[in-house]
Amino acid sequence: MSIATKSPEDIVKMRVAGRLASEVLDFIGPHIKAGMATDEIDRLCHDYMVNVQQTVPAPLNYAPPGYSPYPKSICTSVNHVVCHGVPGERKLKTGDIVNIDITVIKDGFHGDTSRMFYVGPPSVQARRLCEMTYECMWHGIAMVKPGARLGDVGHAIQTYAESNGFSVVREFCGHGIGRKFHEEPQVLHYGRPGTGWVLEAGMTFTIEPMINAGRADIRALADGWTIVTKDHSLSAQWEHTVLVTDRGYEIMTVSAGTPAPPAFAALPHA
Ligand code: MF3
Ligand code: CO
Ligand code: CO
Repeated sequence: MSIATKSPEDIVKMRVAGRLASEVLDFIGPHIKAGMATDEIDRLCHDYMVNVQQTVPAPLNYAPPGYSPYPKSICTSVNHVVCHGVPGERKLKTGDIVNIDITVIKDGFHGDTSRMFYVGPPSVQARRLCEMTYECMWHGIAMVKPGARLGDVGHAIQTYAESNGFSVVREFCGHGIGRKFHEEPQVLHYGRPGTGWVLEAGMTFTIEPMINAGRADIRALADGWTIVTKDHSLSAQWEHTVLVTDRGYEIMTVSAGTPAPPAFAALPHA
């Protein structure tokens, strides 16, 4: 068994889908303010994807085995919500942190990316969690090159998170992506170096660590989708879609508003 790689033509399309997903985040950023309901954010993103970009919002009606169809076009995960927060009537308030996760389909290919946003000034702890989670994602990305193993990626993320007193969610992971939203391999955000799939040029997958300020344990809400921390501690997540290149990696989910990589990753890598 091995992991499929993308052709040069597929990669061109993945770059477009990735940029478009990231541009939805650029578009929605200025709208994220106290008083906005998360379903208003969903509506704005949905209309932008469908009418402006002519992309398909991949989450809408997405129904993996064992799940009911996802009812919205984006995920909005506020404070102690780990992932898959379903947009609703609740309004954002000052001090909240919110992950917006966007997946678009363009020309048959998926682009999947998420960022954290602050609603007004965050607490010191919330800011630290969001910043460290961003660095966790980048510690994982920095491991990506042909011949490296997925366990190297997971280990880098886990080590950085735990050395800063945070915990890594185990039940959800990054994933291969292309014509399918979720395909092989599973990209765990913890692990042992030198284990797991060997990376090859042409593979595309997401890295999307979910990091908790408290314990790692999670539970699902009655809606069947929304995942929260059991101890109600804050949780953060960032996500990029990446391509393994001959020399390292290329980020597929890049647009004008993409935050800069941390200094430790700002070296030649492609
Ligand atoms: N975008 C999420 C991911 O990163 C998946 C969301 S599935 C949904 O894999 F149905 F909740 F949208
Ligand atoms: Co993803
Ligand atoms: Co996502």
